[in-house]
Amino acid sequence: MAHTLISQSDIAPRGTTDPLVDRYGRTISYLRVSVTDRCDFRCVYCMSEHMSFLPRKEVLSYEEIETIVGAFVRRGVRKVRLTGGEPLVRRDIMQLVDSIGSRIGDGLEELTLTTNGSQLRRHAAGLYQAGVRRLNVSLDTLEHKKFAEVTRRGRLDEVLDGLDAASEAGLKIKINMVAMRGVNDDEIEPMMHWAHGRGYGLTLIEGMPLGETGIDRVDTYLPLRELRERLASRFTLEPSHHKTGGPARYDRVAETGGLLGFITPMSHNFCESCNRVRLTATGQLYMCLGQDSMVDLRAALRDGGPGALDAALDQAMLLKPKGHDFVLDREHAAPALSRHMSVTGG
Ligand code: 5AD
Ligand code: SF4
Repeated sequence: MAHTLISQSDIAPRGTTDPLVDRYGRTISYLRVSVTDRCDFRCVYCMSEHMSFLPRKEVLSYEEIETIVGAFVRRGVRKVRLTGGEPLVRRDIMQLVDSIGSRIGDGLEELTLTTNGSQLRRHAAGLYQAGVRRLNVSLDTLEHKKFAEVTRRGRLDEVLDGLDAASEAGLKIKINMVAMRGVNDDEIEPMMHWAHGRGYGLTLIEGMPLGETGIDRVDTYLPLRELRERLASRFTLEPSHHKTGGPARYDRVAETGGLLGFITPMSHNFCESCNRVRLTATGQLYMCLGQDSMVDLRAALRDGGPGALDAALDQAMLLKPKGHDFVLDREHAAPALSRHMSVTGG
């Protein structure tokens, strides 16, 4: 009987399906894509007042993002989050949401977004139609004046209206609140009552030293471990096994029935269970929010085509660092990394 050689290209003509596993045995199942580093806000912990943004011609086209997402999904990525900057300020963003959304059920399990909420009124229904079911919305304060100060140019009413639109469209919402001592630490309980009262989850985040911005990170640093202890003396916090694929740890608050998450990159390092990588708007793949190692997928794609893309992903797995090493004290007054969160994506 004739012997038939089955080559890899017969089985997977569009590229390899090898899972993405790094040197520490962590499987990568989650890709975050920053679709733009631009934003209509300038939050004081995220950006400086006068930001210079990446030149538009360097930004990946939607076709390029689609190709890269396709390669990741083929290799086992199950969850994609679009982020920024503010993803909903990029022109015709729904084209991309629709095309990635069409992969749901075909390898991809979930498509989500992190947004500041300012454009949600316009986009909520379209997001739901594209298959998005959950959103993370950044909201650090419910006081109008403080909101204007923290975001430098946002309007709280717009975001609240956007949240209503999202709920009406059927989207589940989790509020992300960066906890800052002396800025919004007095609002954590009110925010929790408000969020849980509306059926939203609330996740508190420790500020990370990424890029020069507009606040003193040492002064405003609020360790969430302490905060959780304080809350635990006033509420019944029941550790929950709720998992979203991200780094948050959750409690169910008995009094409100809602979920309270803590993202503690500074006080508790969660790197050992890291399952994600981040693509910048210009196509560089960062294996860790807190490290400089990256692989240029745009160069691989533009110079070498889809085959080079798979090789670049293999290289990325070799480069994924064990963890970040954020430190925050007076001796380390400069940010750990000069890169802002809006470049690598939240
Ligand atoms: N530290 C912690 N969180 C940040 N975010 C933006 N910059 C930082 C930072 N330096 C938050 C935003 C958003 C999420 C994606 O990241 O508020 O909720
Ligand atoms: Fe924009 Fe989000 Fe950064 Fe605020 S935190 S400036 S909303 S990207």
